[in-house]
Parts: sequence; structure tokens; C-alpha cells
Amino acid sequence: MRQVFGYWNFRPAYAMTISMLTPPKFTPPSDGFAIAVARLNKTYRAERRRVAKHALRDISLHIAPGQIFGLLGPNGAGKSTLINILAGTVLKSAGAVRIWGTDIDADPRQARANIGVVPQELNIDAFFTPRETLEIQAGMFGVPKSERRTRTILDLIGLTDKAEAYARTLSGGMRRRLLVGKAMVHQPPVLVLDEPTAGVDVTLRQRLWEMIRGLNAQGVTIILTTHYLDEAEMLCDEIAILNHGQIIKQASTKELLAGAGTKQLTLVLAGAGAAGAAPARTKFKARMSAVAKENNSKIDISVGEDTITIRYAPEQITAGTIIKTANESGLEIAEISTSEPDLEDVFLTLTQEKSKK
Ligand SMILES: Nc1ncnc2c1ncn2[C@@H]1O[C@H](COP(=O)(O)OP(=O)(O)OP(=O)(O)O)[C@@H](O)[C@H]1O
Ligand SMILES: [Mg+2]
Repeated sequence: MRQVFGYWNFRPAYAMTISMLTPPKFTPPSDGFAIAVARLNKTYRAERRRVAKHALRDISLHIAPGQIFGLLGPNGAGKSTLINILAGTVLKSAGAVRIWGTDIDADPRQARANIGVVPQELNIDAFFTPRETLEIQAGMFGVPKSERRTRTILDLIGLTDKAEAYARTLSGGMRRRLLVGKAMVHQPPVLVLDEPTAGVDVTLRQRLWEMIRGLNAQGVTIILTTHYLDEAEMLCDEIAILNHGQIIKQASTKELLAGAGTKQLTLVLAGAGAAGAAPARTKFKARMSAVAKENNSKIDISVGEDTITIRYAPEQITAGTIIKTANESGLEIAEISTSEPDLEDVFLTLTQEKSKK
């Protein structure tokens, strides 16, 4: 409870911290894109015990400035490979990449300066303190001492009281926050976070979200990966779904959810064990199938012990029709619940469709 209380106390100062951290305006990218990727390929070469892996296959991707962009996909889809190529820590095999208008081959230095990346692995030097870690990183990016924001960043990531502790004594969540801090020292217009909230507790997760939104409100383009689809649904303006090294879908979060289409309605039946219930169910199923056919629509009905769950397309069939049909079939309804499709449904449908092929 105390932690939660501390968090609320922290808020006003925190909002101020974000605005102190980011310059009011970035020069717009010359090509109009925060990130432009064309026909990108990556093959990890075979090594002693490992066969070659074609991790990215002809990826083309354009990310507009000012967004929170989500990169989703199952384990091994190629998300980190893509991000590490943007970061300059993995070499691409073919294709072109521009970061905030700068081609990574033509001007790798500038390209790196245009982006801050929080990697998936917690690679922190155990023998430096958070303050030293941030200072060294700023030095590496040539940020002059007078322009460094070490204290502000420490405050922002909630590590002020750990500023002088050895990094090896930090918890996993604290290390992740330190990595976020490291990615921000040179105030890049694009910030990429590879699973920023993995293994982070609820309070800190909310604080990270707030930080991500705050930075975005200041004009920083955010790209993130996450396996928490509710997190992506809540934070991201646009989403690309990667599977087996290919982008299988890219759309605004709104569009993705709208395109999911199916709604779900569950009828909890009264007197389920009663004689006569079984014929009513059979009748209902047959009638509903007929209704679906009439409307040129698909329907999926699964019958449980005392429930019937109907998945349907709301454009063609209404809940009213379903309930009416249930009544006419002689089903006795005790309760009704409905649910909208969420990103998890969309994600599973898309990724499973593709792996069946
Ligand atoms: N350094 C490497 N050498 C060889 N193969 C690699 C290397 N890094 C990744 N791979 C392979 O490339 C593919 C994509 O891996 P990547 O780490 O990009 O996936 P990911 O989408 O980030 O997955 P996760 O959700 O598990 O983080 C995987 O098959 C992985 O085994
Ligand atoms: Mg990864």
C-alpha cells in the first residue's frame, strides 16, 4: 500500500520531469517517416551447432512520426532482430533502413543518434552505479556535460535513491528502468523498447506506461514490443504483427479490433438438467444455423453443460435475433453475457491462420 501511496505522491513532480527531459520540438524527418524499412532481410549464419536462420524475410515497414507503434509476434518471430538492426547492434543481410530520415549505411553515426533502444536482455555493467551508467552512456553519445540530464533521468525512472548503488544490487525491474534511462540520455526523436514491461510489477508497469505516454506527448515516436496484448491495445496507435520473419498485418489498433468482427454471446440456461432441455438445444442450433445461412453469415455455436456460446458477426446477426430464436426453441434463459473481440483474439486468429499454411 505504501508503494501505491508513494506513486501518487510522485505524480506531479514526475509530469514536470518528462517535460524537462525532452526538447519541445524535433526537426521533422526529411523523408516524412520516423522509421522506413525496405525489403529488409536477415539471415543468421550457420555456426558450429546451429543451422542458418532466415529471421527476417523481405520486411517493408513505414512508421509515421509521433506514434506509439506496437511490434507484436510470437516468440522467435523476428521482433528483436528487427529492433537490433535499427539499433545498429545486428547487421542486416539485405535491404534498406532509414531512421528519422538517415540511412543506416550512409551515415551510421547519425542514424544511431536518432534512436534510443532498450534491448530485451538486461545487459547492464554490474560494477557501475546507475549514475555512472547514465554518465558513461551520455559520454558515448558525445552529450556535453552541461547538457546532461542525469539527475532528471534518475528521477524519471525512479532510481534516485539507488543512484549510487552497484547495478548488480538492483532488482530485475530496476535494471529494466535503468536501461530505459540509458536509451534516453541523448534525447533521440525515436525510442524503441523491446519488452519494456516484462517482469515489471504492476505499479512500475503503470509508471512505465505513463512515462511512455508522457514522452510520446512530447513528440517522441515510440516503438515497443510486448507479449501483453492488453498493454498493446491500450498504448499503441498502430500495430504490426510479425510471424516467421514476415509482417502479416499492419493497421491502426482501431482497425485491427474492428476487423476482428466476431462477437460472442453466452446464454446461461435455467433448468439445464430438466427433461426436454436437449431437444430445445438441438432445435436452437438448427434454427440459428438457418438464420445464419439466410443472412449469408457464419456462426459458431458451442454447447456446454448449462451454457450455449454463440460467436457471430454483428453486422449480419443481432443479439436480439439470437435471444428470440432461443425463446422460440423453448430454451429457458437464466443469464446472458456478451463480449467484444480483443487484440488477443485478433492476434491468435492471424498468427494461427498463417502457421496452418
Ligand atoms: N544471434 C543469433 N544467432 C542465430 N539465430 C538467432 C540469433 N538471434 C535470434 N536468432 C533466431 O532468429 C529468430 C528470430 O529471433 P528474435 O530474437 O528476433 O525473435 P523475437 O520475435 O524477438 O522473439 P521473442 O518474443 O522470444 O523475444 C529465432 O528463430 C531465433 O532463434
Ligand atoms: Mg525478442
